[in-house]
Amino acid sequence: MMAVRPRRLRRGDVVRGLVREHRVAVEQLVAPLFVAERPADTGPIASMPGIARLDVDGAVREARELVALGIRSVLLFGIPAHKDAVASSNYDPQGVVQQSARAIKAALPEMLVIADVCNCEYTDHGHCGILDARGDVDNDATLELLTRTAVTYAQAGVDVVAPSDMMDGRVGAIRSALDARDHTGVAIMAYSVKYASAFYGPFRDAAGSAPQSGDRRTYQMDPPNAREALREIALDIEEGADIVMVKPGLPYLDVVRAARDSFDVPIAVFNVSGEYAAIKAAAANGWLDGDRAIDEILTAFVRAGADVVITYFAKEYAARAARRAP
Ligand code: PBG
Ligand code: ZN
Repeated sequence: MMAVRPRRLRRGDVVRGLVREHRVAVEQLVAPLFVAERPADTGPIASMPGIARLDVDGAVREARELVALGIRSVLLFGIPAHKDAVASSNYDPQGVVQQSARAIKAALPEMLVIADVCNCEYTDHGHCGILDARGDVDNDATLELLTRTAVTYAQAGVDVVAPSDMMDGRVGAIRSALDARDHTGVAIMAYSVKYASAFYGPFRDAAGSAPQSGDRRTYQMDPPNAREALREIALDIEEGADIVMVKPGLPYLDVVRAARDSFDVPIAVFNVSGEYAAIKAAAANGWLDGDRAIDEILTAFVRAGADVVITYFAKEYAARAARRAP
């Protein structure tokens, strides 16, 4: 005889729903959007089926569709017409991210507009910071660029700035620059734990941001390190980060869990382009059931402790949730 039988609570949909421990809410998802300044740069992204580079009007249309599905947060990435050594299109008040933010906030004031703050899409060499005479990324000179850009984003109506460059001290520098100009209400979502990962491949195609020489290992984190991740998060919180992020997602769920257990601030996870591309490719080949895989993956982020999930699956997940709802 067996008094305890866990299978009793798995007998049907209703009882499984009753005892389910974790759910993914559409309102905790963030949809990334790529906005290109030049019409020639718009269109589908080959390695990210279902995702496209939009123009400013297209971004507003997409934001409307997202809101209709219950997604109220977007993360903007800009693809500028002009790149140079100092990323000057990034802090241009008429830059593509600034224009997109103004257009989305004008059309949909309730939409939370988050803007990625980095230089790699804007530099001709493709690094996230400016280079010194030796070709190394100059941390402190880069801080000045980042703060300048963040201020123009805030002026354009961005609600949250999300520095993804991994320079030391950037959260504090951005916080003081924003506060000095009365943008105390603009939040910072820091890419605190960003690993030097192979999973950014499709993004770099989409944004044309692959480094022309070398790699990002002198600033992005070394994948084997987890204690260092907690140290990065602690520093960013001290410097004023409102939300901290772990990126990529799936290979680093242990880090998401450790972050959740160690800190009380909201934790975001970025389900990156390579994770998206891998699932899409397998599903297109019939090698797995895409819908079920997506549900399982998004649930895993929430189970690991993430509050905010940034994912290219946001729209299709929300569309499916809307069809399921009574
Ligand atoms: C810019 C940036 C990258 C991503 C987000 N911000 C690329 C990189 O660091 O190379 C990756 C997003 C993705 O792969 O979906 N620094
Ligand atoms: Zn970058």
